Amino acid sequence: MIAPLRLGVNIDHVATIRNARGGDHPDPVRAAQIVASVGGDGITAHLREDRRHIRDEDLARIQSATDLPLNLEMAATPEMLEIALRHKPHAACIVPEKREERTTEGGLDAAGLHNSLVPIVEQLREADIRVSLFIEATERQLDAALRLGAPVVEFHTGEYAHAFLDGDSKKVASEMKRISDMAALAAKNGIEPHAGHGLTFENVQPIAAIPQIAELNIGHYLIGEAVFIGLEGAIGRMRDLMDAAR
Ligand code: PXP
Repeated sequence: MIAPLRLGVNIDHVATIRNARGGDHPDPVRAAQIVASVGGDGITAHLREDRRHIRDEDLARIQSATDLPLNLEMAATPEMLEIALRHKPHAACIVPEKREERTTEGGLDAAGLHNSLVPIVEQLREADIRVSLFIEATERQLDAALRLGAPVVEFHTGEYAHAFLDGDSKKVASEMKRISDMAALAAKNGIEPHAGHGLTFENVQPIAAIPQIAELNIGHYLIGEAVFIGLEGAIGRMRDLMDAAR
């Protein structure tokens, strides 16, 4: 029996739908309450520089709506650092951010950005915020996370998800090996590995079966599936698939 796997639900796209009409419905706070009521383990939200989904005022509302830990995804900028220090989420996941991208395409170059990340990671740690780095599963990036003293890394599963969608079984196998090897190496070095991006009912189980991975953060697919089977149903089915894979 391996340790249970936590599910963090990324509620950004509830806010995307809300913002499409400029009003206050659907409210991501209500989504956070549903996540809590169906046994989700955490809320993940990405405050982007352009505020295209979650907005500043959502953060405090989400934090006071449930007792679930908030994992704030943030770019490594002075503005986001100040916001994180003010809100003190349970965790801050540092992600790369490009204004023109549709979603977070690729991991953070923790190795190349080492010097600029040092003060950000330090200040978050001093504020007792659990720092996570959203990186590609490579030895170079993992080594950088280790040097930065990050207690958590989240492996970007986008390449795996794309290969799965393309039916490219060779690439799926090589991505799986890369992620599972790096998860083992992370755990061996005292870093807690998480994973996320592009995970669905179809592709979640091989990732969920990697024993060292402690948490998955899943957003777009769950919110999309909620249109058809409700948010409770979507989270419940994902939870069942994850548990069955352990
Ligand atoms: N984890 C991180 C760090 C992310 O930035 C995102 C969103 O890109 C996710 C997980 C969730 O990805 P998805 O919405 O594809 O499930």
